[in-house]
Amino acid sequence: MSLRDALRIPATEITDEAVYRDRRRLIAALAASTALALPGCAEADPPAPPRAPITPQQARSGFRTDETLTRIEDVTSYNNFYEFGTGKADPSKARKTLRTSPWTIAVSGECAKPGVLDQTDLLKGLTPEERVYRLRCVEGWSMVIPWLGVPLAAVLKRFQPTSKAKYVAFTTLADPRQMPGLVYRSIDWPYREGLRIDEAMHPLTLLATGLYGKPLPQQNGAPLRLVVPWKYGFKSIKSIVEIRFVEKMPPTAWNDLQPDEYGFFSNVNPNVDHPRWSQKTERRIAGTASKLFAERIPTRLFNGYAEQVAGMYKGMDLRKWF
Ligand code: MTE
Repeated sequence: MSLRDALRIPATEITDEAVYRDRRRLIAALAASTALALPGCAEADPPAPPRAPITPQQARSGFRTDETLTRIEDVTSYNNFYEFGTGKADPSKARKTLRTSPWTIAVSGECAKPGVLDQTDLLKGLTPEERVYRLRCVEGWSMVIPWLGVPLAAVLKRFQPTSKAKYVAFTTLADPRQMPGLVYRSIDWPYREGLRIDEAMHPLTLLATGLYGKPLPQQNGAPLRLVVPWKYGFKSIKSIVEIRFVEKMPPTAWNDLQPDEYGFFSNVNPNVDHPRWSQKTERRIAGTASKLFAERIPTRLFNGYAEQVAGMYKGMDLRKWF
């Protein structure tokens, strides 16, 4: 069975890998060969490849941005996944040790149909779609990533949450045999995150299964991770093994560790600084920009998704509920 079959993504839904990876290389190679005949052209940067235009519906929904993508080599080599170490390059070790199949997810709590399901059953009948989102880390860097995934709401509804389900809690696998970073108590493992139910059900909230048209690499949180684009990246919990519908705001890993640094909501907000990092600007890692010296751009409220999500926080003091 091919990977595409395994993910049940129709060919029409997948942009060929060449569009992402090889076009630039091809153009560069062509430019180089032309340069032999046309001296002086060798330095020219190849023109950016054309991308499918964004439909007005996609723009309105925030499902796709046409900002320059972060290169796949950066998306998969500059990561935060503390279960594998605290260095940006450490998570790529996950490729060797994290077994992502079989993989079960336990769903419990305030719902009519709790269960323990294999990942394929969890996603049965749902077709992963592409979403091109900005990802803003609280450390002050950002990326633009073409994810594949299903709306989290479509998955959660299958378990029929009750009216008592006010929040959804998520837990990452914590297996020291697969995750060497667990020996360091940098976090009180397992990594835990949570969303209010309306945030979890919001159309932008994605349960990601892949990126750049391929299954999710281990270092990015295979086989299933959250992507909540208007919140700081740490809310986008990786390698999920448990989902619980709960009545009270659930404890979360970073909030437990430093409650005055990491709030439960953690909506991207340039007006509320983290004690160690200004949140006014961000280092955008995209295209061929250097990772460490990339251009600084202004950070936008709700990471630029205010039109879609601000209504959920009406009347809330965002300084208090940071
Ligand atoms: N999930 C788990 N389980 N462990 C982690 O350390 N790091 C978070 C988030 N999810 C983290 C996690 C942080 S701080 C960020 S910025 C994003 O993952 C980074 O996602 P990426 O490595 O795919 O860019």
